[in-house]
Amino acid sequence: MRGFFMQKSNQNINSCSPIGVFDSGVGGTSIWKEIVALLPNESTIYLADSKNAPYGIRSKQEIINLCEKNTELLLKKGCKLVVVACNTATTNAIDHLRNKYSVPFIGIEPAIKPASIRSTSKVVGILATKGTLGSALFQETASLYKDGVQLLEQDGTGIVELIENGKLDSSEMMNLLKGYVSPMIEKGIDYLVLGCSHYPYLIPNLKKFVPERVTIIDSGFSVAKQTRLILEQNRLLNTDKVPRRYIFYTNQSATVLNILIENKYKIEEVDF
Ligand code: DGL
Repeated sequence: MRGFFMQKSNQNINSCSPIGVFDSGVGGTSIWKEIVALLPNESTIYLADSKNAPYGIRSKQEIINLCEKNTELLLKKGCKLVVVACNTATTNAIDHLRNKYSVPFIGIEPAIKPASIRSTSKVVGILATKGTLGSALFQETASLYKDGVQLLEQDGTGIVELIENGKLDSSEMMNLLKGYVSPMIEKGIDYLVLGCSHYPYLIPNLKKFVPERVTIIDSGFSVAKQTRLILEQNRLLNTDKVPRRYIFYTNQSATVLNILIENKYKIEEVDF
């Protein structure tokens, strides 16, 4: 791994500058895919802080410190906007980041609102990390929908670790998922909210046992739309037809990240 902090900061941010995206690990690539599909002219820099995953078991202050580190790296690389592609980081640190840095931040939160509005059984399941479910921001949002809708919160302890370790399709994963989701199905959910950016990768496995009447939703597309809107409002949307570049950095082995981005792009293993 080579040093990463030595690079000079780029003060000349403009619409051609890249979008920065970070996550506690590889899961934020599910959001990154939505962003690049919606914004074909944009270049991106993705940071996978896999060395420090999972964030969901950490204190709020630890999460804030890690988010500052990631943000500062992306700013040094000249990013014009930062997408916090992690529900745990967003719900614990986004206010702090917005107060401290001047670039626009886009966060991701569990899609409680659309699920609650569309639910007909009025029982909605939310699978998220302990850090997200325990955050003040999540509880505030949830309290807006608790009247008339039963929100079943389930913490997905262990899921992020399995994904980070390349065990997405393992029997351990299936057992964990059934243990977490089956009780919610028995209680009558018709929406299952995936409140962690690692979890969209679970959808094929969830569909093996979740009945069709249950709609599984995540927030990836909403994050991409919000990114486009904020870029437009800040006159930072790239309208030039310059070739886009996708750069990936990880502070662990690149193996799992490579699989999730289908071996299409170069990944640098660096210390950060
Ligand atoms: N992808 C992160 C999220 O959306 C995982 C959090 C963790 O590392 O625990 O919450």
